[in-house]
Amino acid sequence: MTDGSGEHPGLKAGVRIDHEPAVLDGCPAVELPDPCALVIFGASGDLTRRKLIPALYYLYQNDFLPPAFLILGTARTRMTDDAFRDALRGGTRSAHPEVFDEETWSAFSQKIFYHPLDYRDPASYRELFKRIEKCETGRRTGRNRIYYLAVPPTLYETIAEQLGESGLARQEKGYARIIIEKPFGRDLASARELNAHLHRYFQEDQIFRIDHYLGKETVQNILIFRFMNSIFEPVWNWRYIDHVQITAAETLGVENRAGYYEGAGVLRDMFQNHMMQLLALTAMEPPTYFNADRVRNEKIKIFRSLRPFDLDRLGETLVLGQYGPGEVDGEKLRGYREEPGVADDSITPTYAAACFFVDNWRWQGVPFYLRSGKRLPRRVTEIAIQFKAIPHLMLRAVTDESIAPNVLILRIQPDERIMIAFQTKKPGFKSCLRPVMMDFSYPDAAGGIALDSYERVLLDGMLGDPMLFVREEGVELTWSLLTPVLEMIENREMHFPLFSYPAGSSGPAEADSLLEHEEDHWRKL
Ligand code: NDP
Ligand code: BG6
Repeated sequence: MTDGSGEHPGLKAGVRIDHEPAVLDGCPAVELPDPCALVIFGASGDLTRRKLIPALYYLYQNDFLPPAFLILGTARTRMTDDAFRDALRGGTRSAHPEVFDEETWSAFSQKIFYHPLDYRDPASYRELFKRIEKCETGRRTGRNRIYYLAVPPTLYETIAEQLGESGLARQEKGYARIIIEKPFGRDLASARELNAHLHRYFQEDQIFRIDHYLGKETVQNILIFRFMNSIFEPVWNWRYIDHVQITAAETLGVENRAGYYEGAGVLRDMFQNHMMQLLALTAMEPPTYFNADRVRNEKIKIFRSLRPFDLDRLGETLVLGQYGPGEVDGEKLRGYREEPGVADDSITPTYAAACFFVDNWRWQGVPFYLRSGKRLPRRVTEIAIQFKAIPHLMLRAVTDESIAPNVLILRIQPDERIMIAFQTKKPGFKSCLRPVMMDFSYPDAAGGIALDSYERVLLDGMLGDPMLFVREEGVELTWSLLTPVLEMIENREMHFPLFSYPAGSSGPAEADSLLEHEEDHWRKL
């Protein structure tokens, strides 16, 4: 995976594979999309430089892009094609230190163009239209166009409207698709408004809402693991599972994103999207067929079954925290309120732990504990399925050991693996127990060419496969669950508690109070 490491299993450094897409055990690694033009709005920005262009470069290097393909970057900044290409080269090089190769970059960069634009000016879109057509001339992209909105969310509606009004959303000769970054709205009303606005110009099947967690290889593996093995599904329910813990812990603080984060906080930034998707994939029923509609239908059923928070007793199911000053490995870390751009009386939560219930037959009474936070001691994203304790202790005459129940862990990142904790007999005379862990490392065993989340979602956007994108209904249902909570915690007069935790610690101790039984604990971070 490229996330963090810049490494891709299955690939040699700097090697461009000049053959058909790799086939692993009869399974094509990727399908080639039809020719197309990708128009990136906000192309002078951070996402384009750090994520999008490196991902496209990697796809190109491995022959996963169609031969007829072009990228047209657009933003307010004035620059030439060459200046744009130069600005992107460094970002691509640092994203792929292992595989970056000058010759490949030079060939790839010939597919990249730039056109300055005033986002709000219709005349500017007419010029953009002309430039797209000019770039397409002789390139046989089939007039297939994808518009990627890598801009601040305040511009989503303006750009969609201008594209619609200038005829760029029409699908006469080729397709027209729009990819929208997160955050998609900031509450139910704004998400509905944005959906309605987009639908004035684009049909739902033209709209691709990104949740980059869905592009992670190990997240995609959740359904395969659950539904392509017969041993797990029979025990995947209230009869055998005591509770589920879903954790997305980050060591990073807010970095340079206070402008966005101050108005968002962890519930909007991580829960409404990534955490809800992980919960849905863990809890959903098997689809009758593995396609976008059926998988997304099953996820929608989970969102519909989530029990609304009881606002009168919110403190019993939700604990919020904000990191204060702390220290990690001798390095002093400032608190959230001391970060540049953060108000010194900010009540923005950087940590949340919450208990959810899925009110359906399979999950009756099983708590789903979700927690996510910044400036925690370890970067880890995982789903832990904690099974029920054994019903009868046959060894009570010889051991007074308490028996840790079985746990199955789906580790999403950074070390992608599946682990099962179970009891064995400690070698020796007495019947002592020894808990052990069966450990499967996903990258070691998987082989093939792994795509990171942006590589995957860009490719799926080109293929027109919406499976890993979020549907209108999904986005609105998750907002409808969280909006009343956000309204309550953001109302300063309600004084919803916000607990401080030292940067580098495991979050506020108060989060322990959410767990139902005394013997239950959050998994150690
Ligand atoms: P940037 O802040 O870097 O903005 C992108 C571009 O948009 C800028 O280069 C600028 O170009 C233009 N822009 C910025 N502010 C304004 C403004 N007020 N009015 C008009 N144009 C403006 O954003 P990112 O690239 O970081 O992110 C883009 C989108 O992707 C956002 O929606 C973000 O939430 C999302 N995202 C980003 C991630 C990341 O890692 N960066 C991760 C996940 C999502 P110019 O001035 O040339 O017009
Ligand atoms: C983004 C959030 O969507 O996901 C960030 O805006 C967060 O705040 C990031 O850091 C986490 O993504 P990943 O892939 O590093 O787990």
